[in-house]
Amino acid sequence: MDKIVSLAKRRGFVFQSSEIYGGLNGCWDFGPLGVELLNNIKQAWWQAMTYRDDVEGLDASILMHPKVWEASGHVENFTDPMVDCKQCKARYRVDLLFESLPKKSKKHIEDKIKATLNSEVAEVNEITINNYFSDNIDHFTADITCPTCGNTGTFTNARKFNLMFKTYIGAIESEDSIAYLRPETAQGIFVNYGNVKESTRQKLPFGIAQIGKAFRNEINTKNFLFRVREFEQMEMQYFVKPGSDDELYNEWKERRIQWWVDLGIKRENLNFAPHPADKLAHYAKAAVDIEFKFPFGFGEIEGIHNRSDFDLSQHTKFSGKKLDYYDEQNKERFIPYVIETSAGATRGFMAFLCNAFDEDEAPTSEGKSEVRTVLHFHPKLAPIKCAVFPLVNKDGLQEISQNITADLQNTFKVFYDDSGAVGRRYRRQDECGTPFCVTVDYDTLKDNTVTIRERDSMQQERIHKDKIKMYVMEKMMG
Ligand code: GAP
Repeated sequence: MDKIVSLAKRRGFVFQSSEIYGGLNGCWDFGPLGVELLNNIKQAWWQAMTYRDDVEGLDASILMHPKVWEASGHVENFTDPMVDCKQCKARYRVDLLFESLPKKSKKHIEDKIKATLNSEVAEVNEITINNYFSDNIDHFTADITCPTCGNTGTFTNARKFNLMFKTYIGAIESEDSIAYLRPETAQGIFVNYGNVKESTRQKLPFGIAQIGKAFRNEINTKNFLFRVREFEQMEMQYFVKPGSDDELYNEWKERRIQWWVDLGIKRENLNFAPHPADKLAHYAKAAVDIEFKFPFGFGEIEGIHNRSDFDLSQHTKFSGKKLDYYDEQNKERFIPYVIETSAGATRGFMAFLCNAFDEDEAPTSEGKSEVRTVLHFHPKLAPIKCAVFPLVNKDGLQEISQNITADLQNTFKVFYDDSGAVGRRYRRQDECGTPFCVTVDYDTLKDNTVTIRERDSMQQERIHKDKIKMYVMEKMMG
């Protein structure tokens, strides 16, 4: 992970937010290469999800009516129990605090939880711990040693901590002007279900897709971009007739994992992790995570959820507006079920970056070999598609290279580089994940051909300079 984070900064993929002021925890900035990669990921998702007859696009506002979050259950349920150390002010989510305890203390607390909750609790897991500590932390503060400062018995009672960022709309800060930064993009889709259905005349099943920022005041941010406070989601809600939901849930599960595979992630580095029935979110009938094998272990990158009719029913109840569907063929009216695919663009970015990172061997000009750092991005995702080098900076080779660059730049992101040995220029582009490098040399002057070198195989071939654009486009598509 350290190598990846360091490369990400060195090459301008990701910077810490507000770095010159010491940084802001849980927030990151995407640099020149990062923003290209992120845009390419979002574009690939948008294309796969909305360039089809049955899915429409949407871009809803981040600030929404506060009732939305009451109806969705976020005001009530989007909470983590947490405790503060009165001595050093460290704040912990109780289940993570529990995890960090030494084995002996863990066992001691587990026994108490089992004895107090009821004798039938077979396993002490995240749910039982959170439930238990929410009510009973005061019983045990005496037993727990703060992992940060080493003091024992210094924790406050647990309290529910809502993960939504609160703000106020307008000049007056009062209960009536509270608004939240959305913690998921999904609710913007639910409240627009009627508008989209009416304006597009879509029939079930159909979907609405959206990419956008989401904000969660995570207590413990961790692992670079994995758990952050400001991130982007790529969500699609597929509205279906009740009864067809199980089949469509399975279809979307397969379609979504294939999307990650098609963009270069090996299937063995992906995993389906179904949520057990006792761990389902308040809205879900069924849920499965698509996990990616990060350097620190498997972690969720996308959730597929069968949300039943929970959201549309709740918004009907809270808004008083009918959000149902009339099936003309069968002359019946019902509230559709929703199959949700919810991928993280930010977490996906990190998955693609980790997946691409490699250290292999490359030949040097002296006929030896050296370790090269390379990012094996799928050409569709690579921030720069092609680099153009003049072999030497004389005899007109620079001008030809600049003309080629200008021509390619009309279609995709290109990088012109005329400094240092060609081998060094290759190494720089390998670190950026650029799939193709074009070198203009003396033969170009004679026959208009150039050398094109492919990043992963390091194989070179000669092609006519007018064919470069088509060559790169074909690889991107294919
Ligand atoms: N609408 C359902 C929903 O939001 P989720 O499992 O809470 O479901 C979906 O989030 C995806 O959003 C996750 O798979 C992950 O990729 C991303 N995500 C959630 N919380 C995140 C965080 N704090 N930092 C980065 N990405 C996050």
